Amino acid sequence: MSGSRKKDGGGRARRDTVSLDIAARPRRNRKSPSVRALAAETRLLAENLIYPLFVHGGSADEDIKSMPGKKRLGADGLMREVEMSVNAGVTAFILFPVVEDSKKSPDAREAGNPRGLIPETARALKKQFPDATLITDVALDPYSSDGHDGIVSSSGEILNDVTVEALCGQALAHAEAGADIVSPSDMMDGRVGAIRETLDENGHTGTSILSYTAKYASCFYGPFRGALDSAPKAGDKKTYQMNPANVREALRELALDEAEGADIVMVKPAGYYLDVVSAFRESTDLPVAAYQVSGEYLMIKSAAAVGGISERDAVMESLLAITRAGADMIATYFAPEAANFLRRFET
Ligand code: PBG
Repeated sequence: MSGSRKKDGGGRARRDTVSLDIAARPRRNRKSPSVRALAAETRLLAENLIYPLFVHGGSADEDIKSMPGKKRLGADGLMREVEMSVNAGVTAFILFPVVEDSKKSPDAREAGNPRGLIPETARALKKQFPDATLITDVALDPYSSDGHDGIVSSSGEILNDVTVEALCGQALAHAEAGADIVSPSDMMDGRVGAIRETLDENGHTGTSILSYTAKYASCFYGPFRGALDSAPKAGDKKTYQMNPANVREALRELALDEAEGADIVMVKPAGYYLDVVSAFRESTDLPVAAYQVSGEYLMIKSAAAVGGISERDAVMESLLAITRAGADMIATYFAPEAANFLRRFET
């Protein structure tokens, strides 16, 4: 190094003329906002965001304690939230139902009710916003008195095949109500193929399937379960959701979902599973989605609330990182906020 310095008579480097003999100076590509934008490898776009929304069938909006700033929406509140988001550039939505206890049962039969909360909400939304993309969640937990995504046997086992049958009925009810994409989040084996067959047999060949392909048994769903009041009454979800230790198993699920006809494959959660997102990106030509879940939302909100980080910067950095890892689309509770930040974002 010292040999490359310009020296004065005494052999000591003069600070103002010190110059390394290096041709490559990566900092040149970071020298101004405009140059940084030219050289950016990853771009975040509002149109790649999906906004998850909670509906409860009542008229008033209700605050969600576990998710500050988010609400269980009433009918009018939902339309307002969708309109606000569409104006911000977010046009894809995923709906989750808050189901009253009297409609929950061990067989979760309300899930397949063609006149249930989600089908009715889907009809109303598609009527008012025909160009928006409506995604519905296919899983039994909001309707299950056991709080599980599947039907529970008398011995406490989560039954796979009878659950898949119920999921097919649920997906069909959603497709008939106009859902553009149905999204199984239950992690039962064989459900993507069975849902595809049911939809096709009933003339819904155009309804897409966004599969929660690698959904991990994560503590970061806690705030969501608070929002829906859907936590398991007994046990946990580890016999169907994946072990956070595994990535090869995620690729096995990916191969199965591709073979069964999934249109989009999702990794969930997102931020702690970026290696899985990038493994998906390398292994499939299908679009890859990632879900920044309720716990990831709450961590950013909480850290910002105590002044530890800038909410705006944390939202943008986390979404950029998920995109960089290989996600084509991201489900995030920050969708409209991020879309608004994007209008003035400098990397
Ligand atoms: C239920 C479902 C869950 C989420 C989406 N669909 C919760 C769970 O599996 O327990 C979590 C979403 C979030 O935490 O934001 N099938």
